[in-house]
Amino acid sequence: MDNSITFQQLGIADEMNKPIIKKILDVVMPYSMVHETGIVFTMAAVVYAIKNELPGAILECGTWRGGCSVAMLLVQRELFGKILKPVYMLDSFEGLPRVDHRDGPLAAEWQAGTDQEKFFDNCKAAQHDLERLLQQHHFLHGDYKLVRGWFESTVPNVAAELACQGLAVLRLDGDWYASTEVALKQLCPITSEQGVVVVDDYYAWDGCARALHDYLSSNDLPYRIKSLPYNFGAYFIKRAYRSNFNEF
Ligand SMILES: C[S@@+](CC[C@H](N)C(=O)[O-])C[C@H]1O[C@@H](n2cnc3c(N)ncnc32)[C@H](O)[C@@H]1O
Repeated sequence: MDNSITFQQLGIADEMNKPIIKKILDVVMPYSMVHETGIVFTMAAVVYAIKNELPGAILECGTWRGGCSVAMLLVQRELFGKILKPVYMLDSFEGLPRVDHRDGPLAAEWQAGTDQEKFFDNCKAAQHDLERLLQQHHFLHGDYKLVRGWFESTVPNVAAELACQGLAVLRLDGDWYASTEVALKQLCPITSEQGVVVVDDYYAWDGCARALHDYLSSNDLPYRIKSLPYNFGAYFIKRAYRSNFNEF
């Protein structure tokens, strides 16, 4: 898989050492439903944030079994020798909430559970599987924070907690309109200028794409939505305005 274009866009092509990335992928892929290219991009976003000294922590809304969140910890340890930015991991651990009309017919059909192979019990993960993975890799409590509950209640509290520190990387992987909307409204404002926001389900589900479009237009924001390789997700750099013609 060729990720070089996105690495070049983020200015970190040299740092993405293939053997290290492969070693991390071998650990986290059994704990993620995200395609390998999306996990690699997620790690690249963390490296970009640290290399550019962006202030703030890292947060994933929708950790499921934790593959992406743990990748964001492991890449820090492998490349920088320690955890420089704690990773906040938010999930209901009760699966996805019910779709609403904004999520579209495909989402409603999926949630009816007819495609058992890709249903994953409505994306329900066991919290103790993620805790075990964190322990196996000797992460300490200051390295991460696990926040269980529905985003509608947890995200505003976490946003208040992180208001001073901010976020350097925000990973949205909550599938539906309402889940994406609450995360964008509460967490995008505290994301650092030049920070990366990954929107994993942008191509997968209508509601996620609509939530992002609605958020950007209702707040008059000029962020450019970019595709991950093979359209397996999207991202934007939070940038108030384009300052020169060379800027991606
Ligand atoms: C597609 S999975 C996440 C995949 C994961 N990032 C990975 O690496 O495989 C979506 C997750 O979002 C969680 N989720 C979605 N909406 C939520 C909400 N409103 N509150 C809490 N959790 C939510 C679900 O419980 C589920 O675990």
